[in-house]
Amino acid sequence: MKIVLSIFLLTTFSTWITDSVGQNAAVALKSSLLANYDKSLRPVKLASTPVNVALDISLRQIIELAEKEQTFRINVWMRLRWDDELLTWNASEHGGVDTLTFHSSEVWRPDIFLYNNIAETYGALPPITDVTVTSAGRVSYYQPEIFTSACPVGIERFPFDRQECQLEFGSWIYGDSKLNLSLVNPYADRSVFTKNEEWILKGMPMGIRVAVYPCCPETFSTAVLTVQLERRSFFYMFNMVLPCIILMILNVLGFYIPPDSGERLGFFMTILLALVVFLQVLSSSLPKTATTVPQLGEFFVATIALVGFSCLASIVVIRLSYSSPPSRPLPRWLRLTLLHYLARLFCMNTIAEEEHVVHPTIENVDSPAVRDLEDEAVEQKYSILPSLNEISRHIREFSRRANEKQEEDNDQDEWKMAALVLDRALMFAVGFSTLVVCITLLH
Ligand SMILES: *[C@@H]1O[C@H](CO)[C@@H](O)[C@H](O)[C@H]1NC(C)=O
Ligand SMILES: *[C@@H]1O[C@H](CO)[C@@H](O)[C@H](O)[C@H]1NC(C)=O
Repeated sequence: MKIVLSIFLLTTFSTWITDSVGQNAAVALKSSLLANYDKSLRPVKLASTPVNVALDISLRQIIELAEKEQTFRINVWMRLRWDDELLTWNASEHGGVDTLTFHSSEVWRPDIFLYNNIAETYGALPPITDVTVTSAGRVSYYQPEIFTSACPVGIERFPFDRQECQLEFGSWIYGDSKLNLSLVNPYADRSVFTKNEEWILKGMPMGIRVAVYPCCPETFSTAVLTVQLERRSFFYMFNMVLPCIILMILNVLGFYIPPDSGERLGFFMTILLALVVFLQVLSSSLPKTATTVPQLGEFFVATIALVGFSCLASIVVIRLSYSSPPSRPLPRWLRLTLLHYLARLFCMNTIAEEEHVVHPTIENVDSPAVRDLEDEAVEQKYSILPSLNEISRHIREFSRRANEKQEEDNDQDEWKMAALVLDRALMFAVGFSTLVVCITLLH
């Protein structure tokens, strides 16, 4: 029993000893490596050799592309690798320790900045994570970062637009002779990309751009990441275009409301107000540019113009159908265009023919029967019908009035018919324009 216990204790102790030796070796190695290390100097033995920095970017998430502010916000994983000639050691001489970790603030790091940054952090990579160093001096520095860059957003084709946002990474103080920036891949990695609800990621090519700045004689290399995006237009189609199309259909059907029902103008006005609200919502989410009008804006303005036209046309039609007294007959040209040509065109022949129907009028008072009655009355001056004359006069008067009324009614009917034909013509015209607007502006 004692032997077993002592063996157990011995093995535990020996493992602890070897572990602590490994740990001790790493601690000793680390302190010896950092003893004369100046992290603000480039880690090269010969001042003329550049530090080779390989950059790789993995896109994690598109946080926001704000059209109004023209800013682009993304979450990326930055991957930087370089050779530190001062952090090398012989692993077999240091207890087999072949990799060490340092906090990124303890060693030299390339000062990679986002050039077109607009956040208040100035686009620097703050030392947050640890770096791994191999015994050969290869340093790997992986760090997540949220960048906000300027991105000019073109809105002409909104909401069927594609956008390209560029992120430019480069060293702030080291020129190409001191820091050799290169790319691991000609495109950014998208293996950890989270799908975006608003944008479809089309591609992320990367390239190196070399530039000379007025400040310094040296050339500076910039790694340019281009994020190509395409907007998912479904949201706008469903929330703005679809209701707008329904309103447009209502606008066409509004001409079916009888002009004398009194509802019609109110109906068109309501549609107009609804559209103005939609336009407000749209323009509040877009930059206030004066140079371009987004496609969706053109669509709304065209729709508003159509509904405005419907309002105007409605006023004309209502005025036509209420040709209030003293009524005049329909002018000849109006009768010809409306009741002949347009009525035929819109298959309203019944109305065109109705125009020729002679309405039954009250029999003329100058009929032989009445005259006979009159003569008889004159002959029988002292007969039982002394007031026949009077009655006859009344009848004549009544008949004249009735005829006048009939004529007036006929005129009125003609105006009403003209209004009806005009209404139908307008309905077709507005319907056709609606179709044209939808086809030309929604593709
Ligand atoms: C590392 O050290 C061992 C033992 O001292 C030696 O044999 C080996 O050559 C060294 N390796 C390098 C690359 O210097
Ligand atoms: C810069 O880095 C690239 C890739 O690592 C390499 O091919 C090239 O030779 C380097 N240039 C210099 C001047 O060291």
